[in-house]
Amino acid sequence: MKVRNWVLIVGGVVAGSAVAAGLVLQAKPITMSAAGYAVPELSSVANGQATPLGKEGPGAEAGDWTFAPSHTVIEAGAEGDVKGVATFFTGPNFKPAFDNVLLPNADSGTTTATVAMQGSSVDIPVTVTPAPAPDVAQGKVLYDQNCAVCHGATAQGQGDFPNLTYTDAGIGGWGIWQFNRAVRVGVDDVGATLDQTMPRWQAAGFKTDGGNPPTAQEISDIFGYLKTLK
Ligand code: HEC
Repeated sequence: MKVRNWVLIVGGVVAGSAVAAGLVLQAKPITMSAAGYAVPELSSVANGQATPLGKEGPGAEAGDWTFAPSHTVIEAGAEGDVKGVATFFTGPNFKPAFDNVLLPNADSGTTTATVAMQGSSVDIPVTVTPAPAPDVAQGKVLYDQNCAVCHGATAQGQGDFPNLTYTDAGIGGWGIWQFNRAVRVGVDDVGATLDQTMPRWQAAGFKTDGGNPPTAQEISDIFGYLKTLK
């Protein structure tokens, strides 16, 4: 085996360390339905190469990341300021990892969301598209399986479980984006956190989804079904 002895002659500046390892973040633009959610896909860029940051990374080091605009879901009654066309929601037991989901605050529109870490940040262009048209029959199936036990067979409410019909007694006047965030993360139409008795379906998943977060189609189906109830 031939052994080569290399001699490195290093000048006054060692390439790569002259700039104190600033993290350069990159993110894909986000498009999501008014009944949907999104998790940012981030990369770190070094020497012209983008390396995807695994979802578990930020999840494991939650304190290192900031999300803006953001709303923290803590306890019943806590109200936060929910602004813009899309807001990051964070709270206990969120899925998927990242511990943060981006939810729409309008039925359509564009905005910019910001994710930052270690003094670096990236602005993510966000587009909210209208919710898919509902399949009302499928909405009834999903409602009966997941919601009726508490909210009643015809969504008329019972005891502490509110009426969910699309009337003054229920959720009349709500936009689908408001219904979406109530169902996914337990934040009501005015930004207040719902009691923990109301499942956080983003984390729990519908029975039919094997624990995955509801799809935008499923949210639209249930909302469409509730609109038929008087
Ligand atoms: C284990 C019981 C339970 C189940 C199952 C449940 N909920 Fe709820 N839900 C509640 C409770 C309790 C509240 C009221 C919480 C509060 O007032 O803080 C609530 C509140 C809501 C609200 C807010 C209503 C308002 O006027 O502010 C919506 C919307 C809602 N639930 C939708 C659903 C949907 C859709 C399902 C099925 C996918 C579902 N819930 C399943 C217990 C439940």
